[in-house]
Amino acid sequence: GFTPRIFSGIQPSGGLTLGNYLGALKRFAALQGDQAETIYCIVDLHAITVWQDPEELRSRIREATAAFMASGVDPRQSILFNQSQVSAHAELAWLFNTVARVGWMYRMTQFKDKAGKNSENASLGLLAYPALMAADILAYQATAVPVGEDQKQHLELTRDIAAKFNHDYGVNHFPITEPLIEGVATRVMSLRDGSRKMSKSDPSDASRINLTDDADAIAQKIRKARTDAEPLPGSVEGLKDRPEARNLVNIYAALADETPDQVLARFEGQGFGAFKPALAEIAVDALAPITRKMSEFMADPAEIDRILGDGAGRAEEVATPILERTKDIMGL
Ligand code: ADP
Ligand code: NA
Repeated sequence: GFTPRIFSGIQPSGGLTLGNYLGALKRFAALQGDQAETIYCIVDLHAITVWQDPEELRSRIREATAAFMASGVDPRQSILFNQSQVSAHAELAWLFNTVARVGWMYRMTQFKDKAGKNSENASLGLLAYPALMAADILAYQATAVPVGEDQKQHLELTRDIAAKFNHDYGVNHFPITEPLIEGVATRVMSLRDGSRKMSKSDPSDASRINLTDDADAIAQKIRKARTDAEPLPGSVEGLKDRPEARNLVNIYAALADETPDQVLARFEGQGFGAFKPALAEIAVDALAPITRKMSEFMADPAEIDRILGDGAGRAEEVATPILERTKDIMGL
């Protein structure tokens, strides 16, 4: 058996959103101190698969670290570090580039989305992204990965790589990692378009709530969020063909640690004129302390760098022997 170990990461490719908080950070914090070791990573090598301004990237890495800690990830309880500081990730990714098949990569919907129509002009790294993600996870022989719904296909590819490696070399070296896609906020949608996920890389700032937004910005974005004109039903079945309404109810439920049905039981028959201010209030209550803590951490960049350096050292202690064993198995 493999030691229970949880790994996950977030890209420092823009300001973090409510989607990242509910789908990832909040759950990362909750998983600490349970049965498993928790290892969390700012995945800067993933971010550079699309162009990043160097100075901005440097500051986004610190900001993401601050967001982890402000959301309750404790660098003494978890290993919190930056991907490019632990060379095992890039090295294992290369080994996995020889295990994974080209066709597997072309099938990834995220590649198709991000590469767009002119995919011949996408970086080679954007295509190979899932092999690096497999390396992130398997460098720690992680047994479980908490992620949002959007990462499900990449996680399946990680499992395929582990299985093919184990099969090709006749070993049981890598675990078949379990995705932890749980709760009502596994796919928080854009506030402007109920068919797209809320993302830090969406060009429209009104589509998302940023962890750095103040109370007025949050209230205004929620007030302007796209909805329909119907009153709220008494249970979620009534929201089947109402994706925007469903999204706002899910966000409320996730913030309040309730089920969508519990939320609807209170708001049944009411319109968005009543629901939106209530949602804005609960969102501000949840996010204001995080925003405040983030700026406190950001006021001391040297301390953030120290925490990341310490985390990288501890990550390396786990990853290096696993990488060495992998090379040995391959005859390297
Ligand atoms: P983004 O798509 O905002 O650039 P990342 O790719 O860095 O975010 O993803 C970081 C984590 O946040 C992943 O676990 C991802 O599944 C989760 N996540 C991102 N967007 C959402 C969302 N809209 N709803 C729920 N989880 C999300
Ligand atoms: Na993503």
